[in-house]
Amino acid sequence: MKVGVPTEVKTDEYRVALTPAGVRELVDAGHEVLVQSGAGEGSALEDDAYASQGAQIVPDAAELFGRAELVVKVKEPQPEEIALLEPRHTLFTYLHLAADAELTRGLMESGATCIAYETVEDDRGRLPLLAPMSEVAGKIATQAGAFMLEKPLGGRGILLGGVPGVAGAEVMVIGGGVVGMNAAFIAIGMEAAVYVYDRNIDRLRELDVAFGGRADTCFSSTLSIEQRLPDVDLVIGAVLLHGARAPRVITRAQLSLMKPNAVLVDVSIDQGGCFETSRPTTHSDPTYQVDGITHYCVTNMPGAVPVTSTYALTNATMPYVLHLASSGVRGAIAENPGLKLGVNVAGGRVTYQPVAEAVGMPVAPVEEGIA
Ligand SMILES: NC(=O)c1ccc[n+]([C@@H]2O[C@H](COP(=O)([O-])OP(=O)(O)OC[C@H]3O[C@@H](n4cnc5c(N)ncnc54)[C@H](O)[C@@H]3O)[C@@H](O)[C@H]2O)c1
Repeated sequence: MKVGVPTEVKTDEYRVALTPAGVRELVDAGHEVLVQSGAGEGSALEDDAYASQGAQIVPDAAELFGRAELVVKVKEPQPEEIALLEPRHTLFTYLHLAADAELTRGLMESGATCIAYETVEDDRGRLPLLAPMSEVAGKIATQAGAFMLEKPLGGRGILLGGVPGVAGAEVMVIGGGVVGMNAAFIAIGMEAAVYVYDRNIDRLRELDVAFGGRADTCFSSTLSIEQRLPDVDLVIGAVLLHGARAPRVITRAQLSLMKPNAVLVDVSIDQGGCFETSRPTTHSDPTYQVDGITHYCVTNMPGAVPVTSTYALTNATMPYVLHLASSGVRGAIAENPGLKLGVNVAGGRVTYQPVAEAVGMPVAPVEEGIA
């Protein structure tokens, strides 16, 4: 199989989808690996490091897409990349299609088989290719929130952990999954008062044990969230329904309950956002204000720490890339039902139910799309 790794072109995206270690594994298994020149630069990985493990360095995206069969990326393809996709391609990357009908249509028109990292499941129903980036994003969420609470940045001017004699900030985390738990751990470490909301009681039980009394767990409902909002300084939105558009947990009207210059961090923005007033932002211009509340809604938060994120991501994706390259997409999804759940678009059809529902299109069985 010819495996291609392009340079990411999304704004402020510095990750790369394969490290030299991955090249070595693929080449040792008999595959050909093409890496676009400069693809690893943002993650401190030079072309030579790839070439020395057997990769061929190609000058541009046009040649890379032209020669590769399996294209491995980090973020959803941008319009100039969609134009290079063909029916013979398998694309393996984050897609987040439930929030983007236009991207979904573009991928359908390409005819390519598009496998989304974020809907691949393991044998326990967890999301093994989302989890590493959720760990990173959760930790960044608290750091970013603490920073945005500083007065010169438009925040309330409260120190997350306080000092002896002066209380720290109150942090509300809505969604206690991988993002939420990591955000909470950093907030606990910074000595804030932390409240984690989830609707899954078994998850709340697990969190309660993990926190060991250092954060409160709360059942999430419209009323319970509303009752806490007047007291909190920072809210981190981290809810997810697998593959679907994010549920809305704070409305615009509820912003008026909050303290002036409090901060909302919407990590779920890649699935459409969980606050009514959220809209996607970038690392270059991460925040805006609505009704006196700062909103931080960066869609590729882990892209800011590529030296950590590239390794965390590729450690998780590498076995799947190897499997797809060695068995082909049909063989790999037959052998791994969890990988089959990653196929969101194939042969011009949407093949993943929650995406089809979110974008208002019919769903087709994966086998039909790939055939
Ligand atoms: N912005 C970024 O750069 C970035 C990076 C990584 C992950 N994410 C996103 O963060 C979100 C969370 O990811 P995750 O890995 O933590 O997911 P997860 O599945 O581990 O956790 C989601 C949690 O939300 C809970 N939940 C669902 N509906 C809820 C509701 N109404 N109220 C309270 N809790 C609710 C679920 O029970 C679950 O525990 C996803 O949308 C993911 O795509 C964004």
